[in-house]
Amino acid sequence: MIKRLCIVIGIIQISFLSMLKAQVVENTSLGLLPWPASFVVGEGNFTFTEKTVIAIEDKAVRTVVEDFVELFSKASGFAPRIKAGSKKGDVCIRKDDTLPAEHYLLEVNSEKVIIKASEVKGVFYALQTIRQLLPPEIEGGGGGQVAWMIPVVTIADEPRLGYRGLMVDVARYFIAKEHLLRIIDCMGMLKLNKLHLHLTDDNGWRLEIKQYPLLTQIGSKTVQRAGLNFPERRNARQGEPLMEGGFYTQEDIREIVAYAASRQREVIPEIAMPRHSNAALAAYPMLACPIVDKYIGAVPGLGGNLTQIAYCVGNEDVFTFLQNIVDEVLALFPSPYIHLGGDAVHDTPWQNCPLCKERMRKEDVDGEKGLFGYFMRRMDSYVRSKGRKVMGWEEVMDANLSRGAVVFDWHGYGHGAVKAGKHGHDFIVTPTGKMYLNGYQGPQWHEPVLSFGVTNTLKNVYDYEPIERYWTMSMRSHLLGVQASLWTEFCEKPEDVDFLLFPRLAAVAEIAWTSPTEKRWDRFLMTLDDYQERWRIKGIQPSLSMYNVGHEVTPNFGGLKVSLNCIRPDVEIRYTVDGTEPNRYASLYRRPWIVKKTQVIK
Ligand code: ACM
Ligand code: ZN
Repeated sequence: MIKRLCIVIGIIQISFLSMLKAQVVENTSLGLLPWPASFVVGEGNFTFTEKTVIAIEDKAVRTVVEDFVELFSKASGFAPRIKAGSKKGDVCIRKDDTLPAEHYLLEVNSEKVIIKASEVKGVFYALQTIRQLLPPEIEGGGGGQVAWMIPVVTIADEPRLGYRGLMVDVARYFIAKEHLLRIIDCMGMLKLNKLHLHLTDDNGWRLEIKQYPLLTQIGSKTVQRAGLNFPERRNARQGEPLMEGGFYTQEDIREIVAYAASRQREVIPEIAMPRHSNAALAAYPMLACPIVDKYIGAVPGLGGNLTQIAYCVGNEDVFTFLQNIVDEVLALFPSPYIHLGGDAVHDTPWQNCPLCKERMRKEDVDGEKGLFGYFMRRMDSYVRSKGRKVMGWEEVMDANLSRGAVVFDWHGYGHGAVKAGKHGHDFIVTPTGKMYLNGYQGPQWHEPVLSFGVTNTLKNVYDYEPIERYWTMSMRSHLLGVQASLWTEFCEKPEDVDFLLFPRLAAVAEIAWTSPTEKRWDRFLMTLDDYQERWRIKGIQPSLSMYNVGHEVTPNFGGLKVSLNCIRPDVEIRYTVDGTEPNRYASLYRRPWIVKKTQVIK
């Protein structure tokens, strides 16, 4: 019996099933992502023309308004005129100090648009809202055919959480500057405000450091192993030819940071330590424990063995090196924070290293954990002496850092956050199962980008609620916000990065910005359907995995129960059992059925 069932499972194939969108479930005419806090739609439209005048009272908003006007010049061939220091215009941008930071009011009638905010950020968000209310062609290539209209509406909007972040791992797969700028623009459109750049890891060092040129000359390169079976993707051997992996020059970073700042985004650098430091130690192996006698090379991006090698805590040169690096990084990034990693420190050579053992004795700390605490506290103290604060993965809770350190809960279920909150640390949540964007987005046989086997669908992301029910009020007060983390170990080309990021980034935005009582999965999908055109115009191909059909086949009283599923409630699943390709007239899937003999299901 078991044998027969297995054979039948092997033969069942589910291929593409035709789908049709069902009726619109809710008024989606606003088409805004993330969904605003409150709004009232009126009758009629306001039209932007070459005669439109944008009056700005406060000169501080000029840059964000100029960026908005530039969208018009690129897409429409005309540019609304900016009138500074004026109250009179068709679009009036007013300073209203009664509104909290990041809040904005947007009033559109057929004659006039009024934006009110207390800060530039609020104005920026109001302009992003207008951008989304305009036809998608505002993203480029509109020409003379488009009516540049927005609906009459009044919107009062505010974010739910202050930290609305995205981490991109540019270490494992290097993301070129132009691509990163486009990601920053897409974040801005979605009102996400923090870009955490994971700049260094075992697989690559991606930031030019003037005092240590080998970090990029050696640390950005690794052996080419893509295309091989995983067991063959071994670490570099001494003398093997290395492939350029890419890095940002300091000039690139200044451009990225300025681009982000002009769009009211903050860029937070991460320099991983004391582990995830293989690329740095490939360049400067004398900073590893002296008992490490094997060749250290940056680990191939796709595969290879992660090493347990870490900076030697007993070697004073390590601290000089890292402090000099921190100095250069702080000069490049104006963020109040620098992320120092601090995760996954275990099985290091420290316990057997004479220098590390000497450090333990001198500092009266015990074992690996004690050394880790010493190391992180020393770096924390250095960063504080420079007027900045440390961020770290949740493992830094073992290091007893100063109160100002911000902790990233990544294991999930809020346990790391609880530890952090109890000790008075602010924290950010980015749980692996919900906010890591390297999982499959649907049935994995359809997914073009590999993963570890975990699945994190758009719906799974959308349904994430960052505040755990069991948290006390005091705990909740330490939650700064939420972050999606895009690890890129399985990315091989720029399209893979976009595939993992979009559309899940839109779901992250709605978690971070929109009140949980206002979230609606069906409305989100409808809005997203139109919104995706904006990404496509920008040259992004978002994943369509949300349309893919999954199947479950389970033994059932001598047969097999077959059920089909899709995370979209608004699609029809049609299938055939005669081997023909299903079309719109094929059987409509309504409920699971029992298969008693070999059958090909498409
Ligand atoms: C992590 O995923 N190791 C932070
Ligand atoms: Zn050591």
